[in-house]
Amino acid sequence: MLTGTRTLWQAACIALAGAALIATAQAQETVKIGLILPMTGGQASTGKQIDNAVKLYIQQHGDTVAGKKIEIILKDDATLPDNTKRMAQELIVNDKVSIIAGFGITPAALAAAPLATQGKIPQVVMAAGTSIITERSPYIVRTSFTLAQSSTIIGDWAAKNGIKKVATLTSDYAPGNDALAAFKEHFIAGGGEIVEEVKTPLANPDFAPFLQRMKDSKPDAVFVFVPAGQGGSFMKQYAERGLDKSGIKVIGPGDVMDDDLLNGMGDAAIGAVTAHMYSAVHPSALNKEFVAAYKKAYSTRPGFMAVGGYDGIHLIYEALKKTGGKADGDSLIEAMKGMKWESPRGPISIDPETRDIVQNIYIRKVEKQDGELYNVEFATFEAIKDPGKTKK
Ligand code: PHB
Repeated sequence: MLTGTRTLWQAACIALAGAALIATAQAQETVKIGLILPMTGGQASTGKQIDNAVKLYIQQHGDTVAGKKIEIILKDDATLPDNTKRMAQELIVNDKVSIIAGFGITPAALAAAPLATQGKIPQVVMAAGTSIITERSPYIVRTSFTLAQSSTIIGDWAAKNGIKKVATLTSDYAPGNDALAAFKEHFIAGGGEIVEEVKTPLANPDFAPFLQRMKDSKPDAVFVFVPAGQGGSFMKQYAERGLDKSGIKVIGPGDVMDDDLLNGMGDAAIGAVTAHMYSAVHPSALNKEFVAAYKKAYSTRPGFMAVGGYDGIHLIYEALKKTGGKADGDSLIEAMKGMKWESPRGPISIDPETRDIVQNIYIRKVEKQDGELYNVEFATFEAIKDPGKTKK
């Protein structure tokens, strides 16, 4: 009897230990990625593009890499950085994610940075574009862009292409200030003059008073930075006031002409010249494949935010391959530094010193092709590092 009980007890213990072992093995087999995005709120179009692109990548490449199963935990921060911070904390502490990723706006990326440092967890910034972001934690890597990369280049281009007087309209937060500073430095150095500077709030901006004044003061061009998702309403108001017919050119970083919205802007957008890292008609075989797959899956063309997400998940996959599936923060960050690959936007790499993206910046002009509006690239500036890093 006693022996029988003991045997049963032993069997139960062995079974329990076995179950625990299996659970641990399963836990070790899974790499969780916390994807924090604005799926609602002012920047919802960014969240949607990145979520779409990450899903597409996983569909194309499978959900297992280096023997690990990839599990994405998507959280909607509703474009509110306090939510981003709380969600990053919960993902790291409760869900035990190995990586946090996404970050639709600069304040969201900055809010999560101290948690990445404390938790020694890689933070892959797929959208936000202020230069200082990568300096806020040694665990941050960026696959999007910086506003300085594009705004310096359009500043030089404008000064060299007969544009003398410019009025500026920038969104009144960190990336808008980066865009403005970079543009002004280059445009003024090239002999240009800024005749008016206006800043609009990030949430629910009203462009009407600015546009009315532009109509009267007639600069050669307006330099516009609005974040992804706001270009449509800016161009609608620009056209409603007849500015497209008054010869005032729209220039800027390419955010205002996001492919996601461009086709709905109407002919008023034709002729806008912007500098940016991605156009849906970037003429490479890889981009053609990417656009076709994205359109097939979502019945719409990808914008630049989708590409930041697609490359961000690619970077995570490749880093896991390089570490042989080791998912601790230090190993992953080391693996990510210096990584190079071909993106739908062209060749890109991660600067091993700054962990920021190095990429081509293209100057593009909006044209109609087969009845649709596109940013057609006509000049390429190769392998641009972020010019906006703090000078040490
Ligand atoms: C940002 O908040 O950093 C940001 C958001 C949208 C953009 C560019 C920058 O299009």
